[in-house]
Amino acid sequence: MKARIAVLGGDGIGPEVVREASVVLDAVASHFGHAFEQVEALVGGAAIDATGSPLPRGTLELCRESDAILFGAIGGPKWGPEATVRPEQGLLALRKELGLFANIRPVTVNPRLIAASPLKPERLAGVDLVVVRELTGGIYFGEKRRTATEAFDGCTYTVDEIERVVRVAGRLARGRRRHITSVDKANVLETSRLWREVTARVVADEFPDCTLVHQLVDSCAMQLIQHPAAFDVIVTENMFGDILTDEASVLAGSIGLLPSASLGGGRLGLYEPIHGSAPDIAGRGIANPYGTIMSAAMLLRFSLGLAREAAAIEAAVAAALDAGVLTADLGGSASTAAAGAAVVQAMLDRPPEMGTASDFPAEMGTASDFHES
Ligand code: IPM
Ligand code: MG
Repeated sequence: MKARIAVLGGDGIGPEVVREASVVLDAVASHFGHAFEQVEALVGGAAIDATGSPLPRGTLELCRESDAILFGAIGGPKWGPEATVRPEQGLLALRKELGLFANIRPVTVNPRLIAASPLKPERLAGVDLVVVRELTGGIYFGEKRRTATEAFDGCTYTVDEIERVVRVAGRLARGRRRHITSVDKANVLETSRLWREVTARVVADEFPDCTLVHQLVDSCAMQLIQHPAAFDVIVTENMFGDILTDEASVLAGSIGLLPSASLGGGRLGLYEPIHGSAPDIAGRGIANPYGTIMSAAMLLRFSLGLAREAAAIEAAVAAALDAGVLTADLGGSASTAAAGAAVVQAMLDRPPEMGTASDFPAEMGTASDFHES
């Protein structure tokens, strides 16, 4: 198939990890006979430096005209939180402009990496969860005000915004263990009380085959460490999802391993590792590219409908980890490029027609399966 992929490396280690995912996508194209046109564009701090805007018009247009977006990371000390134009605004605007309201963040534990996690091995056995984070609402996008003596961040959710993201969680749950945990702070927040009501109704009416439990976010934060294997699909609002997924990454051994997909109403999706730009290690060639490479696998599965190719990447990453190609965050000394090359090699070592095992069930379908047609 032919596809156009917008490649937005961003700042810090972003371009370094994205480069390896691009190389893997090129290898997929030649191995499986596809034509992927990868087009690079600026975003974040790099775009501020070049154009004054964290999301230049040309970048947004390229994304709109593409089938999928591969994204690295943005931000850094050079563009501090006190600045009025900040790199993060580029990513938030991109999510909002493209209507990418559902952020899917799977967390699994590779048995080989159990030692990389600070948790006891027995807690990690059987961990296989996915967080569906609402991505274009809540306090991230509410009204903001600032005076000399006061600051204000508003948090709003509409029924529609909650319904559509809960449906994504329900469809995902159906391809898995059919257990949904909805996370809120309904003992304090009005938006959370609405969240709870709407979630209960959508699951009862549309996903009666799934079980639903409501959990307060503080308790969920604790349960994620105490009984992580008990979770299947977690659905939650924007900021809780941001915080809980950084926490959940500790289960996998390193935040550098975790991919994500941001989906909207169609097939266009944005795929990025959940980690940040790590300015402290940028430019040294030691960042972990596996989370970005796994994001490229999600890109193939959800936006391009290439489940077999996605599974081939996932199997190749597992093989590279099994072979001990570990970056510094995983206790090894492999470079970013060596990790990317190991994935490509592992993929080329298998004939394309050979079935490959996947950590991420193929029955999860493509982006359009998450939405009403
Ligand atoms: C993430 C990041 C972003 C967020 C930042 C960079 C704006 O932390 O994708 O989790 O908070 O959504
Ligand atoms: Mg985050």
